[in-house]
Amino acid sequence: MIIVFGSLNINTVMPVEHFPKPGETVACTSDYLSHPGGKGANQAVAAARAGAKVAVVGKIGDDSFGRRCINNLKNQSIWASGIGMSERPTGHSTVAVDSSGTNMSIVAPGANNDATADQVPDEVLIPRNILLTQLEVPPKETFMVLSRARNHQTPTILDASPATKMTREGLANVDYLIVNEVEAHQLAHTLGITETDPRLIAKAITRMGGPRMACIITLESKGSVAVKDDATYVVRTLKVDAVDTTGAGDAFCGIFAARLQLGHDWLKAMHYAGVGAALSCLALGAQESMPFLDDIEAHVHKVEPPRKLA
Ligand code: RIB
Repeated sequence: MIIVFGSLNINTVMPVEHFPKPGETVACTSDYLSHPGGKGANQAVAAARAGAKVAVVGKIGDDSFGRRCINNLKNQSIWASGIGMSERPTGHSTVAVDSSGTNMSIVAPGANNDATADQVPDEVLIPRNILLTQLEVPPKETFMVLSRARNHQTPTILDASPATKMTREGLANVDYLIVNEVEAHQLAHTLGITETDPRLIAKAITRMGGPRMACIITLESKGSVAVKDDATYVVRTLKVDAVDTTGAGDAFCGIFAARLQLGHDWLKAMHYAGVGAALSCLALGAQESMPFLDDIEAHVHKVEPPRKLA
C-alpha cells in the first residue's frame, strides 16, 4: 500500500488568455472550474489509477470543500479514514491557466497546516508499504514521519514541493527525492550547492543524502534526470499538446510510487511516471486528468526507456 501523508485542497481554476501583471485585472476566457486538488490528494489519485492501493493521511476543514475532497478519494477506492478534521477551513488553491497550458497558483493551506505526523500509525509503517510525502503540510511534521518510516524500514519518497529550507538531516531519511527544475535550484541554494546543471545538482544532493538516496529532477517536456549510486540517467517523456499542466508533477510522483510498490525497478517506474505525467496534461484539472494504467501502458512503448549516461 502507498501511504500518502499530505495536503488536500479544492482548486478554483481560472482559464485566462494571459496572466495578470501586478495591478492588472483580466477576465477568464470561460467559466471558472472547481476541482479537488492538493498535492497529497493528487498524488494519491495518480497512484490509485496506476494500480496501487492507497491511503491518505491529512486534515480537512468541517465544510463542503472538505467533504468533497473525501468523497472524491473514496470514489477512487482510496482509504480516507486517516484524514482528520481541523477547525480551519479546507485548503484552497486558485489556479490560473493561460492559453499555453501553463499555470500559476495561490494556495491558502488552511486545515493542511494542522496535519501532524502522529496521525500516521506505526502499524502502516512497514517495509512492504511506501510512504509518499510532499511539503504542502508542515515540513516539520513531514520530516518527523519520514524519520519514523526510516526506523521501520519503510521506503520513502519526498516530493520537495513547495520548496522549503532543507537540511542534510532532513535528506537522510529520504530514499527517492523528486523535485522540478525550479525547486531543484531553490533546494540547491538552501543546501549550499553551487552547481546549476540539473544533473550535477542531482548528483550533489545524492552525495549529501546518503548511500540509498536517488534524486530525480523533472524537466517538464524535456523529461527528467536522475542520479543514484553516482550514476546519472536521462528519462524521456511523451510529447503532448498540453491543455493544463496542473498536477503533472503530482502525477509523476504518484505513478512512480505505485509502480515501485507493485514491483517495478526504479528506472521502469520512472519510465511509466514520465509518460503518465505527460498524459495528465491533456485535460483541465488535477485529479480528473490523472491517467489510468491502461492509458500509460498504451503509450509507454513510444518513449525510450531511461538511459544511463556514460
Ligand atoms: O501540484 C498541484 C496542486 O498544488 C494543485 O492541485 C493545488 O491544489 C496545489 O496544492
